[in-house]
Amino acid sequence: MNDKKIPTHVAIILDGNGRWAKKYGQPRSFGHYQGGRNLFTVAKAAQKLGIKKLTVYAFSTENWKRPEDEVNYLMTKPIEMFHENRDRIKEIDYKITFVGRRDRFSKELLEVIQIIEAETKAHEGFELTIAADYGSYDEIVKAANQSEKPITIESIEKHLMVKQPVDLLIRTSGEQRLSNFLLWQASYAEFYFTKVHWPAFSEKELKKAIKSYQDRNRRFGGLA
Ligand code: IPE
Ligand code: IPE
Ligand code: MG
Repeated sequence: MNDKKIPTHVAIILDGNGRWAKKYGQPRSFGHYQGGRNLFTVAKAAQKLGIKKLTVYAFSTENWKRPEDEVNYLMTKPIEMFHENRDRIKEIDYKITFVGRRDRFSKELLEVIQIIEAETKAHEGFELTIAADYGSYDEIVKAANQSEKPITIESIEKHLMVKQPVDLLIRTSGEQRLSNFLLWQASYAEFYFTKVHWPAFSEKELKKAIKSYQDRNRRFGGLA
């Protein structure tokens, strides 16, 4: 890995929590729990490596289709984990923001989101953006509706929830699709797919993805 060609904006589709849990004979919820914890480990590693922005897909606008008990776990466990780790939030030295719909969350979850955003707002250098109840279709339609007329590429971009283009997009657990994540922003992203399930994705795996990125030739439609 080359320390000089670090991607500015990395996005990760955090997939495979369920399959990881199954592999260890555990319920899917255990995979989500370990996946949630791993998010902060990987964010710290990304910050250390010099990445400026990490955007992670935690819950899609389509994930509401899952069984009620799973959705319920995903919507309530983070609240519990926040309160259990209340003192440690102060130790977070980077900015955390959330993107996605906010109208389908409970009052308690919204409160947690607001506190985390407010308490990390002043931090500079690295930003972790958590996409929750996020879908690109929803984001682009909203941006188009908010845009001044006539609509242009710039006027849409101005209203997107995620404004920076993605340099490197990682998807864990073997699937090779976007599942409605950052369709616009990933237009010229480099893709990296790994079979490793999200709860097992480590700093070492992140470095492998960056190494792969550094070996590519990004042309943006031009010539090398
Ligand atoms: C990713 O893991 C987390 C969410 C989508 C909420 P999955 O829950 O999709 O795990 P698999 O893909 O079923 O293994
Ligand atoms: C994509 O994973 C959404 C998140 C990781 C939050 P899914 O597991 O929902 O994607 P599909 O259904 O396999 O495409
Ligand atoms: Mg999945």
